[in-house]
Amino acid sequence: QSLLQSLLPPTLDESDPSLLRAASFVFITAIHSICPEASSLGIETKAFKCKDIKHGDYQCNAAMAMFQKLKATGSLPPGVNSPVDMAKAIAAAIPTENPILDNLTVNGPGFIMARFKSSYLSKWVNSLLTNGAPSRPKLSKPSGTVVVDFSSPNIAKEMHVGHLRSTIIGESVCRILEYMGNDVKRINHVGDWGTQFGMLIQYLKEEYPDLHGDIPNITDLTEFYKNAKQRFDESAEFKKVSQLNVVQLQAGDAEYLKMWQVLCDVSRKEFEKVYKRLDITVEECGESFYNDKIPPVIEEFSAKGLISVEDGGAKCVFVPKYKVPLMLQKSDGGYGYDSTDMAAIKYRVEEIKASQVVYITDFTQGDHFQMVFAAARKIGWVTEDSHRLDHIGFGTVQGEDGKRFKTRSGDTVRLVDLLDEAVSRMEASLKERSNIPEEEIHATACAMGYGAVKYFDLRRNPTSNYIFSYDRMLDTKGNTAIYLLYAHARLESIITKGKAEGVDVDSLLKEGKAKIMLEHKSERNLGLHLQIFADAIEETLSDLYPYHICDFVYALSIAASEFVTQCKVLGSPEMESRLLLCRAAAIVMRQCFDLLGIRHVMRI
Ligand code: ARG
Repeated sequence: QSLLQSLLPPTLDESDPSLLRAASFVFITAIHSICPEASSLGIETKAFKCKDIKHGDYQCNAAMAMFQKLKATGSLPPGVNSPVDMAKAIAAAIPTENPILDNLTVNGPGFIMARFKSSYLSKWVNSLLTNGAPSRPKLSKPSGTVVVDFSSPNIAKEMHVGHLRSTIIGESVCRILEYMGNDVKRINHVGDWGTQFGMLIQYLKEEYPDLHGDIPNITDLTEFYKNAKQRFDESAEFKKVSQLNVVQLQAGDAEYLKMWQVLCDVSRKEFEKVYKRLDITVEECGESFYNDKIPPVIEEFSAKGLISVEDGGAKCVFVPKYKVPLMLQKSDGGYGYDSTDMAAIKYRVEEIKASQVVYITDFTQGDHFQMVFAAARKIGWVTEDSHRLDHIGFGTVQGEDGKRFKTRSGDTVRLVDLLDEAVSRMEASLKERSNIPEEEIHATACAMGYGAVKYFDLRRNPTSNYIFSYDRMLDTKGNTAIYLLYAHARLESIITKGKAEGVDVDSLLKEGKAKIMLEHKSERNLGLHLQIFADAIEETLSDLYPYHICDFVYALSIAASEFVTQCKVLGSPEMESRLLLCRAAAIVMRQCFDLLGIRHVMRI
């Protein structure tokens, strides 16, 4: 059956918006007409997007391999003596009346280049306008419940730029997964149960006995943390009582729990301020939540004979390829980061019934998560096929000197200060160069300032480090949110002017009279870019890196700018179609902004 399947050309799903699959369909059909066993011979028949759009939109690279294979089996078609001949034969096998591809040329050693028919592209662009949104790609794998563990700052420590990265990337990953119909559980795995509490409690007992009468603020708390840590590192005695405190807290000591609660509340209020500013939705389910779920996990590992007891009595689990084990219980009986993560993953797959779990932290935790995943497989909670487990490990943010990102006085940069700075710089620039009414300036500056900070992070592969630079992220030129937001506002401003000149895009859409023609080269190019959206989403789903969407929306906005510069919109005979095309581009741009967690503005 499957051999038979592999011999058949695919069928075209008319409702599938993927250009990649549409182009592949045409190429594969032509290839199969010449060589029915192409797939079973292992010939790569898929289409690729052309790197240089001068030559075509999509290309097929099968001719070279096909020539070699058919030559080896002595079954070359008559007249085919080289890969170029092979490419020509495939191109000739594509029926000219096919509704999808046009303009076939053979290039180099045997690449077939093709362009989409304008009629095919305008069909999609028109449906985009009718639906008010681009069509979603059709996936072979159904959507399900996905847990995304992100942001996850630590109590009593201020959120820093590392947590900012996790928060920004995590929010975007959640939005993309939700957009594709998944039921996403956004989880803030707050560090509210670690060893820091032992020393904080000890420090507070010694230095700040009126904790409940005089609640400290986050700045005090950060100070306490710094001092407590210093004492912990310097005094063996302080260290010992601190460690005992953690065990006591984890065992449910009432006084300690009350102190712990105060510390959590103070920090939580601070985190929430940041989330609110950045439009982040995440539900707190911190480390402490798993406290009573850890002992049964250890028992389960133990019952299956997977625990090794190390020196001093620590309970450990070894997983393939790693020399150090995961530690489920320390020798003093306490639970740590590993214990919590094992209980958390079990809870997520068994109770929440997630089919995918995504963790977003800095790259140094990569091994930790690979070991957690391996241990979950070892005990049989998940298999490679049953669940998808991802860790997105991101690089560090550096200061302009290429070193650690810090303030002039050498302290860690506070997130709130960083966000304030981005907004105030934006405000200053808007006051200087924009005509928007005074009362819109602050909201616009927030959208642009926060958008700029987010986009500066999202637009690159998360594994890379980057240098934080206000000047670069707030630049009106280049691949920045500011450039994109301007490009979008420009489209909407043309639409507003069109309305004043008598063509109202919104009423055209309401009356269902919208029809876009893609006649001019830059109209067609913009139409093509609009439709690539579906493929950009699919690419993002494969590695969960939002930069694919950034690359896409940047290329789209360049295509849109080119269109409005090269084609006269206002007052032209094609005014109606062109205004609609502006709207189509604005819709797709807004969709991308939304997936990246960036607010759009209609005028700047
Ligand atoms: N609180 C941790 C940190 O700041 C991140 C937690 C990530 N999530 C997890 N399930 N371990 O590094």
